[in-house]
Amino acid sequence: MKIAPSILSADFANLERDIKMVEKAGASYIHVDAMDGQFVDNLTLGPNIVQAIRPHTKLPLDCHLMISNPEKFIPAFAKAGADIISIHVEATHHIHGALQMIKNEKVSAGVVINPGTSVETIVPVLGDVDLVLVMTVNPGFGGQSFIESAVDKIKTLAHIRKEKGYHFEIEVDGGITDETIGMCKEAGADVFVAGSYIFGSSDEGKAIEKLKEAAKNV
Ligand code: DX5
Ligand code: ZN
Repeated sequence: MKIAPSILSADFANLERDIKMVEKAGASYIHVDAMDGQFVDNLTLGPNIVQAIRPHTKLPLDCHLMISNPEKFIPAFAKAGADIISIHVEATHHIHGALQMIKNEKVSAGVVINPGTSVETIVPVLGDVDLVLVMTVNPGFGGQSFIESAVDKIKTLAHIRKEKGYHFEIEVDGGITDETIGMCKEAGADVFVAGSYIFGSSDEGKAIEKLKEAAKNV
């Protein structure tokens, strides 16, 4: 299992320190939430931040684009050093083409579904992706409550993956705590994004340990 701390809840004035701390504490990816003020009501991190943090960690930079028409920004994120670029199926009319764009940049490609979007909408591209991100909150902000009805989608994806012999990772994002991680793990998720649970804690390393422990005991 992989823990991907979301730096949306990190201390932006001490990003390097926070990233190094979670890397040392056993994080597997650094999750970067890019929001455009249009697809979601928030403005956050862009390719300039990805470029700035790239030299300070060996961990893959897992970039979650909450951006309308993400095609416009895929080359910039790739150039900045993104290792994974995930785009919302709701944000483009051309999900297949946009995923190909990511792959042409030699970056791992992920597709994301909102809590109100069904797995069926992404079935045609599941053979093309390296990662599927299931949102367990409506995107836009850290610190929201987990939406339990999304868990069944993880099960469906795990089932399709097995049946078709696909290899995508299943990532879950939003409201992940030591109380919610277990049901996601049990449903078949592999990568767990956590923002406020980790960076809101007084001991980030312990928080990561607690998440891993809680996921193990299912
Ligand atoms: C929400 C973002 C998440 C967010 C998670 O739009 O995609 O990555 O930072 O934050 P928590 O773990 O606090 O729900
Ligand atoms: Zn995210």
